[in-house]
Amino acid sequence: MSDSLRVGVLTGGGDCPGLNAVIRAVTKSLILRDGAEVIGFEDGFEGLIEHRARTLSYRDVSGLLTVGGTILGTSNKANPFDYFGRDGADVSDEILDYVREIKLDALVAIGGDGTMSICHGLQEKGLNVVGVPKTIDNDLVGTDRTFGFDTAVTIATEALDRLHSTAQSHHRVMILETMGRYAGWIALYAGIASGSDVVLIPEFEYDVDEIVRVCRKREQGGQRFTIIAMAEGAKPIGGEMAVLKVVEDSPDPIRLGGACHVLGRALEHHLDSEIRTTILGHVQRGGTPTPYDRILSTAFGEAAARCVADQNYGVMVALQNSQMATIPLEEVAHKTRTVPKDHEMVRAALSVGTSFGVPM
Ligand code: F6P
Repeated sequence: MSDSLRVGVLTGGGDCPGLNAVIRAVTKSLILRDGAEVIGFEDGFEGLIEHRARTLSYRDVSGLLTVGGTILGTSNKANPFDYFGRDGADVSDEILDYVREIKLDALVAIGGDGTMSICHGLQEKGLNVVGVPKTIDNDLVGTDRTFGFDTAVTIATEALDRLHSTAQSHHRVMILETMGRYAGWIALYAGIASGSDVVLIPEFEYDVDEIVRVCRKREQGGQRFTIIAMAEGAKPIGGEMAVLKVVEDSPDPIRLGGACHVLGRALEHHLDSEIRTTILGHVQRGGTPTPYDRILSTAFGEAAARCVADQNYGVMVALQNSQMATIPLEEVAHKTRTVPKDHEMVRAALSVGTSFGVPM
Protein backbone atom coordinates (compact mmCIF):
# COMPACT_ATOMS: atom_id res chain seq x y z
CA MET A 1 0.00 0.00 0.00
CA SER A 2 1.16 3.51 -0.76
CA ASP A 3 1.09 6.18 1.94
CA SER A 4 -2.02 7.96 0.77
CA LEU A 5 -4.85 6.27 -1.10
CA ARG A 6 -4.24 6.14 -4.88
CA VAL A 7 -7.32 5.45 -6.93
CA GLY A 8 -7.68 5.05 -10.69
CA VAL A 9 -10.76 6.08 -12.66
CA LEU A 10 -11.72 5.14 -16.21
CA THR A 11 -14.77 5.29 -18.46
CA GLY A 12 -15.42 2.31 -20.78
CA GLY A 13 -17.86 1.51 -23.58
CA GLY A 14 -19.98 4.07 -25.43
CA ASP A 15 -20.18 7.65 -24.21
CA CYS A 16 -23.21 8.51 -22.12
CA PRO A 17 -24.68 11.63 -20.49
CA GLY A 18 -23.49 11.74 -16.87
CA LEU A 19 -20.02 10.21 -17.33
CA ASN A 20 -18.32 13.49 -16.45
CA ALA A 21 -20.68 13.97 -13.52
CA VAL A 22 -19.56 10.60 -12.10
CA ILE A 23 -15.86 11.39 -12.69
CA ARG A 24 -16.42 14.67 -10.84
CA ALA A 25 -18.24 13.07 -7.89
CA VAL A 26 -15.77 10.17 -7.47
CA THR A 27 -12.77 12.49 -7.67
CA LYS A 28 -14.12 15.21 -5.41
CA SER A 29 -15.32 12.74 -2.77
CA LEU A 30 -12.03 10.86 -2.73
CA ILE A 31 -9.98 14.05 -2.51
CA LEU A 32 -12.15 15.85 0.05
CA ARG A 33 -13.09 12.95 2.28
CA ASP A 34 -10.12 10.62 2.01
CA GLY A 35 -7.26 12.85 0.90
CA ALA A 36 -6.74 10.43 -1.98
CA GLU A 37 -4.77 10.89 -5.17
CA VAL A 38 -6.99 10.21 -8.19
CA ILE A 39 -5.54 9.07 -11.49
CA GLY A 40 -7.59 9.14 -14.67
CA PHE A 41 -6.86 6.59 -17.43
CA GLU A 42 -7.55 7.68 -20.99
CA ASP A 43 -9.86 5.87 -23.40
CA GLY A 44 -11.07 3.20 -21.02
CA PHE A 45 -8.97 0.07 -20.56
CA GLU A 46 -6.81 1.20 -23.48
CA GLY A 47 -5.20 3.80 -21.20
CA LEU A 48 -4.61 1.23 -18.50
CA ILE A 49 -2.96 -1.12 -21.00
CA GLU A 50 -0.94 1.58 -22.75
CA HIS A 51 -0.06 3.51 -19.58
CA ARG A 52 -1.86 6.69 -20.59
CA ALA A 53 -2.73 8.25 -17.27
CA ARG A 54 -2.93 11.64 -15.60
CA THR A 55 -3.60 12.89 -12.11
CA LEU A 56 -7.02 14.45 -11.67
CA SER A 57 -7.05 17.45 -9.32
CA TYR A 58 -10.10 19.01 -7.72
CA ARG A 59 -9.82 21.85 -10.24
CA ASP A 60 -9.65 19.40 -13.16
CA VAL A 61 -13.10 18.05 -12.36
CA SER A 62 -14.80 21.33 -11.50
CA GLY A 63 -17.48 22.54 -13.91
CA LEU A 64 -18.10 19.05 -15.31
CA LEU A 65 -21.54 18.33 -13.91
CA THR A 66 -23.40 19.56 -16.97
CA VAL A 67 -20.89 18.59 -19.65
CA GLY A 68 -21.69 15.70 -22.02
CA GLY A 69 -19.19 12.98 -23.04
CA THR A 70 -16.17 12.05 -20.93
CA ILE A 71 -13.05 14.15 -20.30
CA LEU A 72 -11.09 10.88 -20.08
CA GLY A 73 -12.16 9.56 -23.46
CA THR A 74 -13.52 6.05 -23.87
CA SER A 75 -13.31 2.94 -26.03
CA ASN A 76 -15.74 0.13 -26.65
CA LYS A 77 -13.04 -2.08 -28.13
CA ALA A 78 -10.36 -2.29 -25.43
CA ASN A 79 -10.95 -5.64 -23.74
CA PRO A 80 -7.75 -6.62 -21.84
CA PHE A 81 -8.65 -10.32 -22.19
CA ASP A 82 -8.86 -10.00 -25.97
CA TYR A 83 -6.98 -6.84 -26.82
CA PHE A 84 -7.50 -5.56 -30.39
CA GLY A 85 -4.29 -3.51 -30.16
CA ARG A 86 -2.27 -6.75 -29.90
CA ASP A 87 -4.13 -9.15 -32.17
CA GLY A 88 -6.50 -10.40 -29.52
CA ALA A 89 -3.83 -11.14 -26.86
CA ASP A 90 -4.73 -11.50 -23.16
CA VAL A 91 -2.92 -8.55 -21.55
CA SER A 92 -4.70 -8.74 -18.19
CA ASP A 93 -1.51 -9.80 -16.33
CA GLU A 94 0.25 -6.70 -17.66
CA ILE A 95 -2.51 -4.57 -16.17
CA LEU A 96 -2.05 -6.21 -12.77
CA ASP A 97 1.75 -5.63 -12.97
CA TYR A 98 1.26 -1.98 -13.96
CA VAL A 99 -1.26 -1.38 -11.17
CA ARG A 100 1.23 -2.78 -8.64
CA GLU A 101 4.06 -0.75 -10.18
CA ILE A 102 2.20 2.57 -9.88
CA LYS A 103 0.89 1.55 -6.44
CA LEU A 104 -2.77 1.89 -7.29
CA ASP A 105 -4.96 0.81 -4.38
CA ALA A 106 -8.15 0.53 -6.38
CA LEU A 107 -9.83 1.20 -9.72
CA VAL A 108 -13.25 2.76 -10.26
CA ALA A 109 -14.55 1.69 -13.69
CA ILE A 110 -17.57 3.50 -15.09
CA GLY A 111 -19.25 1.51 -17.84
CA GLY A 112 -21.91 -0.85 -19.11
CA ASP A 113 -22.19 -4.63 -19.29
CA GLY A 114 -18.93 -5.04 -21.23
CA THR A 115 -16.97 -2.95 -18.72
CA MET A 116 -18.54 -4.76 -15.74
CA SER A 117 -17.65 -8.14 -17.26
CA ILE A 118 -14.03 -7.03 -17.74
CA CYS A 119 -14.01 -5.71 -14.15
CA HIS A 120 -15.21 -9.07 -12.90
CA GLY A 121 -12.41 -10.83 -14.77
CA LEU A 122 -9.78 -8.44 -13.39
CA GLN A 123 -11.20 -8.71 -9.90
CA GLU A 124 -10.83 -12.50 -10.08
CA LYS A 125 -7.14 -11.91 -10.87
CA GLY A 126 -6.75 -9.75 -7.77
CA LEU A 127 -7.54 -6.18 -8.84
CA ASN A 128 -9.46 -4.05 -6.31
CA VAL A 129 -12.25 -2.74 -8.46
CA VAL A 130 -15.56 -0.92 -8.06
CA GLY A 131 -17.99 -0.56 -10.97
CA VAL A 132 -20.42 2.27 -11.71
CA PRO A 133 -23.38 1.36 -13.98
CA LYS A 134 -23.55 3.49 -17.10
CA THR A 135 -25.65 3.12 -20.22
CA ILE A 136 -28.51 4.84 -21.97
CA ASP A 137 -29.91 1.33 -22.56
CA ASN A 138 -30.75 0.76 -18.84
CA ASP A 139 -30.00 -2.93 -19.39
CA LEU A 140 -27.65 -3.75 -16.50
CA VAL A 141 -28.86 -6.28 -13.96
CA GLY A 142 -28.78 -5.44 -10.26
CA THR A 143 -29.70 -1.76 -10.56
CA ASP A 144 -33.13 -0.23 -11.10
CA ARG A 145 -31.53 2.52 -13.18
CA THR A 146 -28.31 3.26 -14.99
CA PHE A 147 -27.31 6.89 -15.42
CA GLY A 148 -27.82 8.21 -18.96
CA PHE A 149 -31.15 6.46 -19.42
CA ASP A 150 -33.25 9.38 -18.24
CA THR A 151 -31.49 11.74 -20.65
CA ALA A 152 -31.97 9.34 -23.58
CA VAL A 153 -35.67 8.97 -22.72
CA THR A 154 -36.03 12.75 -22.50
CA ILE A 155 -34.45 13.25 -25.92
CA ALA A 156 -36.47 10.43 -27.52
CA THR A 157 -39.67 11.80 -25.97
CA GLU A 158 -39.00 15.25 -27.37
CA ALA A 159 -38.38 13.72 -30.80
CA LEU A 160 -41.68 11.81 -30.63
CA ASP A 161 -43.52 14.95 -29.50
CA ARG A 162 -42.12 16.83 -32.48
CA LEU A 163 -43.00 14.02 -34.90
CA HIS A 164 -46.60 14.36 -33.71
CA SER A 165 -46.85 17.71 -35.53
CA THR A 166 -46.07 16.24 -38.95
CA ALA A 167 -48.05 13.07 -38.26
CA GLN A 168 -51.14 15.08 -37.39
CA SER A 169 -50.77 17.70 -40.14
CA HIS A 170 -50.06 15.23 -42.97
CA HIS A 171 -52.10 12.29 -41.66
CA ARG A 172 -49.05 10.07 -41.70
CA VAL A 173 -47.67 7.09 -39.86
CA MET A 174 -44.43 8.26 -38.24
CA ILE A 175 -41.97 5.66 -36.93
CA LEU A 176 -39.16 6.73 -34.58
CA GLU A 177 -36.32 4.26 -34.00
CA THR A 178 -34.57 4.59 -30.64
CA MET A 179 -31.36 2.96 -29.46
CA GLY A 180 -31.30 0.38 -26.65
CA ARG A 181 -29.52 -2.59 -28.22
CA TYR A 182 -31.26 -5.82 -27.14
CA ALA A 183 -33.51 -4.14 -24.54
CA GLY A 184 -36.58 -2.01 -25.15
CA TRP A 185 -36.42 0.32 -22.15
CA ILE A 186 -35.83 3.58 -24.06
CA ALA A 187 -38.64 2.95 -26.57
CA LEU A 188 -40.99 1.78 -23.81
CA TYR A 189 -40.45 4.81 -21.55
CA ALA A 190 -40.34 7.39 -24.36
CA GLY A 191 -43.38 5.72 -25.92
CA ILE A 192 -45.34 6.10 -22.70
CA ALA A 193 -44.10 9.65 -22.08
CA SER A 194 -45.13 10.76 -25.59
CA GLY A 195 -48.41 8.86 -25.71
CA SER A 196 -47.23 6.89 -28.74
CA ASP A 197 -49.90 4.67 -30.26
CA VAL A 198 -47.61 1.70 -30.85
CA VAL A 199 -44.47 0.68 -28.93
CA LEU A 200 -42.26 -2.00 -30.45
CA ILE A 201 -39.49 -3.57 -28.38
CA PRO A 202 -37.19 -6.57 -28.86
CA GLU A 203 -38.83 -8.42 -25.98
CA PHE A 204 -42.15 -8.79 -27.89
CA GLU A 205 -41.86 -9.77 -31.56
CA TYR A 206 -44.34 -7.74 -33.57
CA ASP A 207 -47.02 -8.85 -36.01
CA VAL A 208 -47.27 -6.54 -39.03
CA ASP A 209 -50.98 -7.38 -39.42
CA GLU A 210 -51.65 -6.23 -35.88
CA ILE A 211 -49.91 -2.88 -36.52
CA VAL A 212 -51.90 -2.48 -39.75
CA ARG A 213 -55.06 -3.15 -37.74
CA VAL A 214 -54.16 -0.43 -35.20
CA CYS A 215 -53.36 2.14 -37.92
CA ARG A 216 -56.55 1.37 -39.86
CA LYS A 217 -58.69 1.54 -36.74
CA ARG A 218 -57.25 4.97 -35.99
CA GLU A 219 -57.85 6.11 -39.58
CA GLN A 220 -61.45 4.90 -39.47
CA GLY A 221 -62.02 6.45 -36.05
CA GLY A 222 -61.04 9.89 -37.34
CA GLN A 223 -57.50 9.95 -35.93
CA ARG A 224 -55.75 9.93 -39.25
CA PHE A 225 -52.23 9.49 -37.94
CA THR A 226 -50.21 6.97 -35.93
CA ILE A 227 -47.03 7.42 -33.88
CA ILE A 228 -44.82 4.36 -33.48
CA ALA A 229 -41.94 4.30 -30.96
CA MET A 230 -39.67 1.46 -32.02
CA ALA A 231 -36.52 0.09 -30.39
CA GLU A 232 -33.63 -0.64 -32.76
CA GLY A 233 -33.75 -4.29 -31.64
CA ALA A 234 -37.46 -4.79 -32.41
CA LYS A 235 -38.16 -7.51 -34.94
CA PRO A 236 -41.16 -9.16 -36.61
CA ILE A 237 -42.39 -12.56 -35.49
CA GLY A 238 -39.92 -15.12 -36.77
CA GLY A 239 -37.72 -12.38 -38.26
CA GLU A 240 -34.24 -11.05 -37.50
CA MET A 241 -33.03 -7.83 -35.90
CA ALA A 242 -31.90 -5.18 -38.40
CA VAL A 243 -28.10 -5.08 -38.43
CA LEU A 244 -26.54 -1.81 -39.57
CA LYS A 245 -22.92 -2.95 -39.53
CA VAL A 246 -20.48 -5.39 -37.98
CA VAL A 247 -17.53 -3.85 -36.15
CA GLU A 248 -15.07 -6.74 -36.29
CA ASP A 249 -12.65 -5.55 -33.59
CA SER A 250 -15.37 -4.83 -31.03
CA PRO A 251 -16.20 -7.34 -28.24
CA ASP A 252 -19.87 -6.94 -29.23
CA PRO A 253 -19.47 -6.50 -33.01
CA ILE A 254 -23.14 -6.12 -33.99
CA ARG A 255 -24.44 -2.56 -34.46
CA LEU A 256 -28.20 -2.44 -34.86
CA GLY A 257 -30.05 0.05 -37.05
CA GLY A 258 -32.71 0.24 -39.72
CA ALA A 259 -35.54 -1.63 -37.98
CA CYS A 260 -37.88 1.28 -38.73
CA HIS A 261 -37.19 1.00 -42.47
CA VAL A 262 -38.00 -2.73 -42.40
CA LEU A 263 -41.33 -1.99 -40.71
CA GLY A 264 -42.03 1.02 -42.93
CA ARG A 265 -41.65 -1.12 -46.06
CA ALA A 266 -43.84 -3.86 -44.60
CA LEU A 267 -46.65 -1.40 -43.77
CA GLU A 268 -46.53 0.48 -47.07
CA HIS A 269 -48.52 -2.08 -49.01
CA HIS A 270 -51.33 -2.18 -46.48
CA LEU A 271 -52.06 1.46 -45.60
CA ASP A 272 -53.35 4.50 -47.43
CA SER A 273 -51.47 6.88 -45.14
CA GLU A 274 -47.92 7.81 -46.04
CA ILE A 275 -45.21 6.37 -43.80
CA ARG A 276 -42.07 8.16 -42.67
CA THR A 277 -39.18 6.83 -40.62
CA THR A 278 -36.64 8.56 -38.36
CA ILE A 279 -33.58 7.01 -36.75
CA LEU A 280 -32.62 9.06 -33.68
CA GLY A 281 -29.15 7.54 -33.30
CA HIS A 282 -26.36 9.06 -31.23
CA VAL A 283 -28.33 12.23 -30.53
CA GLN A 284 -29.67 10.19 -27.58
CA ARG A 285 -26.19 9.94 -26.05
CA GLY A 286 -24.95 13.49 -26.54
CA GLY A 287 -25.08 16.72 -24.61
CA THR A 288 -25.92 17.66 -21.08
CA PRO A 289 -27.50 15.12 -18.72
CA THR A 290 -30.97 15.76 -17.28
CA PRO A 291 -31.18 16.85 -13.62
CA TYR A 292 -32.18 13.28 -12.70
CA ASP A 293 -29.05 11.88 -14.35
CA ARG A 294 -26.85 14.54 -12.74
CA ILE A 295 -28.24 13.58 -9.35
CA LEU A 296 -27.94 9.83 -9.96
CA SER A 297 -24.39 10.23 -11.32
CA THR A 298 -23.38 12.23 -8.26
CA ALA A 299 -24.91 9.66 -5.90
CA PHE A 300 -23.23 6.78 -7.78
CA GLY A 301 -19.88 8.61 -7.72
CA GLU A 302 -20.08 9.20 -3.98
CA ALA A 303 -21.14 5.59 -3.38
CA ALA A 304 -18.20 4.29 -5.44
CA ALA A 305 -15.76 6.50 -3.50
CA ARG A 306 -17.23 5.16 -0.25
CA CYS A 307 -16.75 1.57 -1.46
CA VAL A 308 -13.07 2.34 -2.09
CA ALA A 309 -12.63 3.95 1.35
CA ASP A 310 -14.35 0.93 2.98
CA GLN A 311 -12.35 -1.51 0.83
CA ASN A 312 -15.62 -2.94 -0.44
CA TYR A 313 -14.23 -4.27 -3.71
CA GLY A 314 -15.55 -6.53 -6.47
CA VAL A 315 -18.89 -4.74 -6.49
CA MET A 316 -20.95 -2.45 -8.68
CA VAL A 317 -22.80 0.42 -7.04
CA ALA A 318 -26.52 0.29 -7.77
CA LEU A 319 -29.87 1.95 -7.25
CA GLN A 320 -32.27 -0.43 -5.58
CA ASN A 321 -35.68 0.71 -4.34
CA SER A 322 -34.50 4.35 -4.41
CA GLN A 323 -31.50 3.54 -2.17
CA MET A 324 -27.80 3.32 -2.99
CA ALA A 325 -26.66 -0.30 -2.78
CA THR A 326 -23.88 -2.57 -4.01
CA ILE A 327 -24.05 -5.83 -5.92
CA PRO A 328 -21.23 -8.36 -6.49
CA LEU A 329 -19.76 -8.02 -9.99
CA GLU A 330 -20.16 -11.74 -10.57
CA GLU A 331 -23.94 -11.22 -10.44
CA VAL A 332 -23.74 -8.48 -13.08
CA ALA A 333 -21.14 -9.80 -15.52
CA HIS A 334 -22.26 -11.14 -18.92
CA LYS A 335 -25.95 -10.47 -18.26
CA THR A 336 -28.58 -8.22 -19.83
CA ARG A 337 -31.70 -6.89 -18.16
CA THR A 338 -34.54 -6.85 -20.67
CA VAL A 339 -38.16 -5.73 -20.23
CA PRO A 340 -40.22 -8.47 -18.57
CA LYS A 341 -43.67 -9.12 -20.02
CA ASP A 342 -45.33 -8.37 -16.70
CA HIS A 343 -43.42 -5.12 -16.06
CA GLU A 344 -45.55 -2.39 -14.50
CA MET A 345 -44.76 0.00 -17.35
CA VAL A 346 -45.96 -2.54 -19.92
CA ARG A 347 -49.17 -2.78 -17.90
CA ALA A 348 -49.44 1.02 -17.75
CA ALA A 349 -49.00 1.34 -21.51
CA LEU A 350 -51.58 -1.37 -22.23
CA SER A 351 -54.04 0.25 -19.84
CA VAL A 352 -54.13 3.45 -21.94
CA GLY A 353 -54.62 1.55 -25.19
CA THR A 354 -51.01 1.44 -26.42
CA SER A 355 -50.32 -1.47 -28.73
CA PHE A 356 -47.14 -3.55 -28.56
CA GLY A 357 -47.76 -4.73 -32.10
CA VAL A 358 -48.97 -8.10 -30.94
CA PRO A 359 -52.17 -9.13 -29.16
CA MET A 360 -51.48 -9.16 -25.37
O1 F6P B 1 -25.07 0.78 -25.57
C1 F6P B 1 -25.30 2.09 -25.97
C2 F6P B 1 -25.58 2.16 -27.44
O2 F6P B 1 -25.85 3.51 -27.78
C3 F6P B 1 -26.71 1.26 -27.93
O3 F6P B 1 -28.00 1.75 -27.62
C4 F6P B 1 -26.43 1.17 -29.39
O4 F6P B 1 -26.95 -0.01 -29.95
C5 F6P B 1 -24.91 1.15 -29.43
O5 F6P B 1 -24.46 1.72 -28.20
C6 F6P B 1 -24.31 1.92 -30.57
O6 F6P B 1 -22.94 1.75 -30.56
P1 F6P B 1 -21.93 2.63 -31.42
O7 F6P B 1 -21.75 3.95 -30.70
O8 F6P B 1 -20.67 1.84 -31.45
O9 F6P B 1 -22.55 2.84 -32.75
